[in-house]
Amino acid sequence: MNPSSPAPLAIRLMKSGLALLIVSALPSSHGETPNAKPASVTVHVDQVTAEISPLIYGQFIEHLGRAIYGGIYEPGSPLSDKHGFRKDVLEKVQALRTPLMRYPGGTVTKIYHWKDGIGPKENRPVRRNLIWGGEDTNHVGTDEFMTYSQLIGAAPFITVNMSTGTAEEASEWVEYCNADGNSYFAALRRKHGHPEPYRVKYWGLGNEEAAKEDAGVLQNPADYVQKAWFFAKLMKLQDPSIELIMVGDDEHWNKTILESLHPIADYISLHLYASTPNAAPSSLFTSVANMEERIKKTAAQIKALTPADPGPLSRWYRFPGRKGPVKIAIDEWGFWEPSGTGAYGLEQTYTWNHALGVASFLNAFQRHADVVGMATWAQTVNMLAPIMTDEQRSICQAIYYPLALYRELSGTRHVAADVTCGTLPDTEQLPVLDVASSIDDAGRTLTLALVNRSETEHLDVALTVAGAKTSGAWTAHTLTAPSVRAANTLQEPDKNVVEYRTTSIASDTPSYRVPAHTIAILQVALAK
Ligand code: AHR
Repeated sequence: MNPSSPAPLAIRLMKSGLALLIVSALPSSHGETPNAKPASVTVHVDQVTAEISPLIYGQFIEHLGRAIYGGIYEPGSPLSDKHGFRKDVLEKVQALRTPLMRYPGGTVTKIYHWKDGIGPKENRPVRRNLIWGGEDTNHVGTDEFMTYSQLIGAAPFITVNMSTGTAEEASEWVEYCNADGNSYFAALRRKHGHPEPYRVKYWGLGNEEAAKEDAGVLQNPADYVQKAWFFAKLMKLQDPSIELIMVGDDEHWNKTILESLHPIADYISLHLYASTPNAAPSSLFTSVANMEERIKKTAAQIKALTPADPGPLSRWYRFPGRKGPVKIAIDEWGFWEPSGTGAYGLEQTYTWNHALGVASFLNAFQRHADVVGMATWAQTVNMLAPIMTDEQRSICQAIYYPLALYRELSGTRHVAADVTCGTLPDTEQLPVLDVASSIDDAGRTLTLALVNRSETEHLDVALTVAGAKTSGAWTAHTLTAPSVRAANTLQEPDKNVVEYRTTSIASDTPSYRVPAHTIAILQVALAK
């Protein structure tokens, strides 16, 4: 694969029968390999634990460094389209098939005023980006973000400024985006060439408001609660159908937020950044596992502090409360290593080990599908990103490929699985094999995502499917690289370290060898 061409291309080629990378083969077991270790997975196809929200495959983009300007947008570049969007980047973002895009921040939300970013571009004020440095021409604002979301097929998710912005300003943003009458901001949107409302459903009330170093003013959870109610009221009065994402943080903060805001909190947010704290690659997985613990703790708090059905709000609110149970919005997740470059070190080179970490994160989101309602990878282009650009080209980092493959292949309902395997060295008994299992809506296909997180050892995994019969014809989609340290970089734009294969396996109960540091997504048809 060439890193400048998106991974799902491989998947699409495969689906159209043209895949050059398909290796049609063979049951996967194997001659004797000294470093192969045994493992087993029993999937209980009849034990559906939860629907997996398609929104867990979201992305995030912020007015930060080269994320937008020089990332998705570069007017005047021979690589750009009539909107100024980089076509090479757009193609890669489209191929990621993200269903959800969060914008405009991030921390920049605290200084962002949406009215700066509408109307004729030549009239828009240039503002200093006080949070991340540099200047914001405001040439990418609400309408451009909506165009981009439409071009990539994603639902927009907007965060509003609760620090230097007002509830009225946030409410008017909802009006600009969603109103279809003759009111001032609906008319203004039409005047700007957008007759139809954008119908933005997802609205975040602030961002990391508990962060005391940031330019926020709401570091006390009680202050956040008071202001969030006011913002929510003015925004929901504009459009009662919008869904609100409340800012979460530690257990102390979350307790207050959940107790006080749960009648109108569709989601509580979590930001999960993992890293590699020491030289052992496996320390990254300890960090991911710590993030999974935060999901579990927040899930337990939601269960303890919020009723699944809060009942109706008093009619004097003039809008309905939340409908379903409170969900977690992991509206920033990814890897943030100290070694980055660019603004605040946010331009990161991701290795194949990080790609294995992506798969572990997504497996965790699927395992906790009963409570994880959405997740947006932070971010999309250049900053903490799967796609990197310079003026001549763009490339896909190693992490791009599992993001794309999971979106392409995962099922929509999580099913229970029992896993036995050894542990990863240099961790506290972390399983070497990370697993998530799912079926599609019709219950016709079982998808098993297996991540062998060992740097050096293959795993021979004995697979058992309980609760249904299989066709016995399995397909294995594997992603791997020569080493966990391998990376795709702009310095070697034509080199792609990621290898994608599909393999056929004919067996009711295969023993499947997952090579070292490999992601294997196995699929089999289920008999009705
Ligand atoms: O994604 C980069 C930054 O990380 C975001 O702006 C902020 O919300 C988080 O701390």
